[in-house]
Amino acid sequence: PSTKKAKISQLSELRSQRVRVFGWVHRLRSQKGIIFLVLRDGTGYLQTVLSGVVSQTYDALTLTLESSVELAGTLQVVPEGKTAPGGHELIVDYWKVVGAAPGADDAFTNRLNEKSDPSIQADLRHLVIRGETASSVLRLRAHLLSAFRDFLVRHHLLEVTPPCLVQTQVEGGATLFSLNYYGQPAYLTQSSQLYLETCLPSLGDVFCVQESFRAENSHTRRHLSEYTHLEAELAFLSFEDLMDHIEAVTCETVDQLLANPVSAGLIQQLNPGFKAPERPFKRMSYFDAIAWLVEHGIKRAAEDAEGNVILDESGQVKMVDHIVGDDIAEAAERQMTDIIGTPVFLHSFPAELKAFYMKKIPAEEGAKTVYTESCDLLIPNVGEVVGGSMRISDVEELLAAYKREGIDPAPYYWFTDQRKYGTCEHGGYGLGVERFLAWLANRFTVRECSLYPRFVPLSFV
Ligand code: 4AD
Ligand code: MG
Repeated sequence: PSTKKAKISQLSELRSQRVRVFGWVHRLRSQKGIIFLVLRDGTGYLQTVLSGVVSQTYDALTLTLESSVELAGTLQVVPEGKTAPGGHELIVDYWKVVGAAPGADDAFTNRLNEKSDPSIQADLRHLVIRGETASSVLRLRAHLLSAFRDFLVRHHLLEVTPPCLVQTQVEGGATLFSLNYYGQPAYLTQSSQLYLETCLPSLGDVFCVQESFRAENSHTRRHLSEYTHLEAELAFLSFEDLMDHIEAVTCETVDQLLANPVSAGLIQQLNPGFKAPERPFKRMSYFDAIAWLVEHGIKRAAEDAEGNVILDESGQVKMVDHIVGDDIAEAAERQMTDIIGTPVFLHSFPAELKAFYMKKIPAEEGAKTVYTESCDLLIPNVGEVVGGSMRISDVEELLAAYKREGIDPAPYYWFTDQRKYGTCEHGGYGLGVERFLAWLANRFTVRECSLYPRFVPLSFV
């Protein structure tokens, strides 16, 4: 009756005592009438041994993988020479099946593994997440989110929760998901940035962890239709300060994860070669990056005036050198980060490649290209993980920017007002949580870094 009900992660404190544990059958093996069962309860794995008494009421056949069970018994330190998670095993004297699972004939237990077809894995995601790898990625994700929050709170940023239903675009109309809001057109948010900006005079520096939605018609390993967006906005700072902050949030978050034995263990399991990046990060202007690409022979597909790729005589896509004014596309960006091999900031992008709200770097009269105080943080294997910029703080400049982009200023009145009621220099950034996690956990796609990933099905591309 005094048997303590415990989670697997608490058991080290309960050695030599009789305990009750609840969970799912993670692994099962029987040998000479003894059943070895690994129990999983989300907090950890527990080696258990079932023999003698148990086989009178049930036999090994009634126990199947993924069944939920209750086990009671005494916790014993494993003998010298044997290993078990936590260094102990449960000698079971009572057990009960709570909910049986179909066992070996079933699709999940039989067919599904990490090499299964991605579409099967996607359909069975609710079962895939029970696996050791998928659950470790999700567990690391939770640690990552709290480490981000710890950093931001430590640096005096306050967390806010902006709305998802919006009437203003932030990152261009092309990737908006639209919906009917009581008969009015509205969208799912692409970024909470504009709302964060309005919080500065009220709450000071702020951040949010919010879902962002992008109708991206590209089936790549780093695009989701819904992703978790960590965004922060800071007042009274310079562009240098902003890049320093982005570098600090990246590095200090990683340091915190590596200092905690649980998260460090998850990183070690998923990405054994992982090392904290060295500071300071390399900073390269867009202008220098174009020269770097040319120097390294990294070309882009040639396009006609309508943006269609041009083929050469042999029917292959014609490749040409990058020139100033070109967007640095995903493929080129990836090759670049692979060669550089460490995180790198690209900064000062041309205004015409970037969003309307970005602060411009003063240019000489008649200059061909106007640059902005903008930066992208690129990371090996992933590419862009953070996008940030200083914002236009002058009201006239903002009105001109709406006009140039063909944006109707009316629904943005509150964003414009920000520049009329005590404006200030300010800037911020957005960090893709799944991309950051793909880097930390060495995942091939961001789809593995989301609980239930939403992305454009191949048949829609
Ligand atoms: O570069 P983006 O579009 O910047 C913004 O939205 C700014 N308004 C953020 C800000 O300054 N507050 O997006 C920021 C980051 C990218 O660097 C990328 O990591 C991630 O969000 N991201 C995506 N992640 C997964 N799937 C997508 N479709 C993504 N689009 C952007
Ligand atoms: Mg970006």
